[in-house]
Amino acid sequence: MKEKKLEELKSECQNCMRCELGKTRINVVFSDGNPETSKAILIGEAPGENEDKTGTPFVGRAGKLLNEFLEKAGISRAEDLYIINTVKCRPPQNRVPSDEEKNLCSEYLLKQIDIVNPDVIIFCGSTALKSFYSKKIPISKIRGEILEIEINGKTRKCVPIFHPSYLLRYHSLEEGSPRYLMLKDLEKIKTLISK
Ligand code: URA
Repeated sequence: MKEKKLEELKSECQNCMRCELGKTRINVVFSDGNPETSKAILIGEAPGENEDKTGTPFVGRAGKLLNEFLEKAGISRAEDLYIINTVKCRPPQNRVPSDEEKNLCSEYLLKQIDIVNPDVIIFCGSTALKSFYSKKIPISKIRGEILEIEINGKTRKCVPIFHPSYLLRYHSLEEGSPRYLMLKDLEKIKTLISK
């Protein structure tokens, strides 16, 4: 049921030319994961080069690091998560998507959230956080908190986490380090989706 609605939406996205990103993309990067079994949606920033080439989110270096952390926290990428981005097409040179691009793409994102209807939404990085949370609080101050945010008329539990590309710069797993905090946040999310 969810699959069918999402397939229809994906076909719509594949023809989308609402913004300039449609002109330079190779592939629309619609989603990854199982919408029927996932209890959480993870929202990243935007597709990069590898994602544009393959049509799948989080398959490059940052994606591989994300996979490692998910595995450590006992979260199955294939079964527990539905993964999307704030925009479905790669911004040239991997720049941050503009507000206009995010707004033009948000109808698809909101429909995906409605259809999947997750228990938890994970904002992976500050671009995703800022798309839904208007207070100007750095991700480092708010990560790991459970925020109640109204999205398309429904109050949803949302948890911001660091973006894995930020973690590529730090290697320590020592208490309080970014990688340590990422693992703690994902373990917390694991308990939220295991209830
Ligand atoms: N970074 C993101 O935010 N999303 C992807 O899909 C890949 C890298």
